[in-house]
Formats: sequence, structure tokens, C-alpha cells
Amino acid sequence: MALKGSCPMLLLPLVLLGAWLALASEKLWNEKNDKFLLQHWNYPRSKDSNGTYCDTLMQRQEMYGQEANTFIHAPMGSINNICTLGGTPGKPNERHSVAPFDITVCAFNSTSRTYAGTRYVRRIVLDCRKGLPIDYVRHI
Ligand SMILES: *[C@@H]1O[C@H](CO)[C@@H](O)[C@H](O)[C@H]1NC(C)=O
Ligand SMILES: *[C@@H]1O[C@H](CO)[C@@H](O)[C@H](O)[C@H]1NC(C)=O
Repeated sequence: MALKGSCPMLLLPLVLLGAWLALASEKLWNEKNDKFLLQHWNYPRSKDSNGTYCDTLMQRQEMYGQEANTFIHAPMGSINNICTLGGTPGKPNERHSVAPFDITVCAFNSTSRTYAGTRYVRRIVLDCRKGLPIDYVRHI
């Protein structure tokens, strides 16, 4: 055994640093997951009585002006599940949902400066870290 005498004393700060880094990275991924949910999760789908679903949502989430954004209408659990049992691996960190999802793609029209929404039921691709989605990639 190489670890003897004063070595554990030297290792302790390293162990603490490692634990701190692990916590910091977990916090980072959790924050990214919160941001993902804020930008891409709308369940149940907000009422759209006057055809302004995308404009209302993009304004509310402070994303107005962004070229496009997709909202997913499904329970949080089934979205998170794509990162584990409900998804198959794609590119590194990407998961393809096994099941199709109810989504609305909002696209900005720079002429009218309003959003047009198109609703689809499609399989989706998410960027997952530590078993949680942190980014929406595309639908397939
Ligand atoms: C109707 O449209 C206005 C903007 O023209 C919007 O502020 C409001 O939230 C919309 N109402 C619903 C129920 O979508
Ligand atoms: C963008 O809006 C303009 C003006 O309302 C409209 O004529 C045009 O067809 C729209 N473009 C798309 C791609 O929907």
C-alpha cells in the first residue's frame, strides 16, 4: 500500500475539492435543467383562444425575437424519462425519444414580427446530462 503516514492528510483537501466540484457540477446541470423546462415545457398546453399561443408564450418566457423555439406538451416525468428508459442513444449526450410527443414549434416571422405556431406529434431529440434534459435538439 502506498497510502500511509501523512498521505491521507494530504488527500483530504483533494477529496473535499472533489466533493465540492461534484456538487458544483450537479448544481450547474440542475440549473440548466430548470432553464430547459422554462424554455421548452408547456403542459398542459396553455389556452389559445385568440391564436396568439406562440406570441404569448415567447413573451412570457422572455424569448421574444429568438428565431424559433419548441414547446413540449407532456408531463415532466415522461420528458425526463427520455434521458433514461424512454430514449435511445444518439450522438454523445443525445437521446431520441422512443415515443412521439405533442409539440408546438414557434417560428418567428421577421416581416410581421410575430410567431407562427405549428403543432406536431413527433419523436424528439434531447441533450441529457446526469440523467436530466438540459437542451432541446430537434424533432425527428
Ligand atoms: C389574447 O391576445 C392577447 C394579445 O393580443 C394576449 O395578451 C392574451 O394573453 C391572449 N389571450 C389568450 C387567452 O390567449
Ligand atoms: C410573414 O409575414 C408576412 C406579413 O404578414 C407574410 O406576408 C408572410 O407570408 C409571412 N411569412 C411566412 C414565412 O409565414
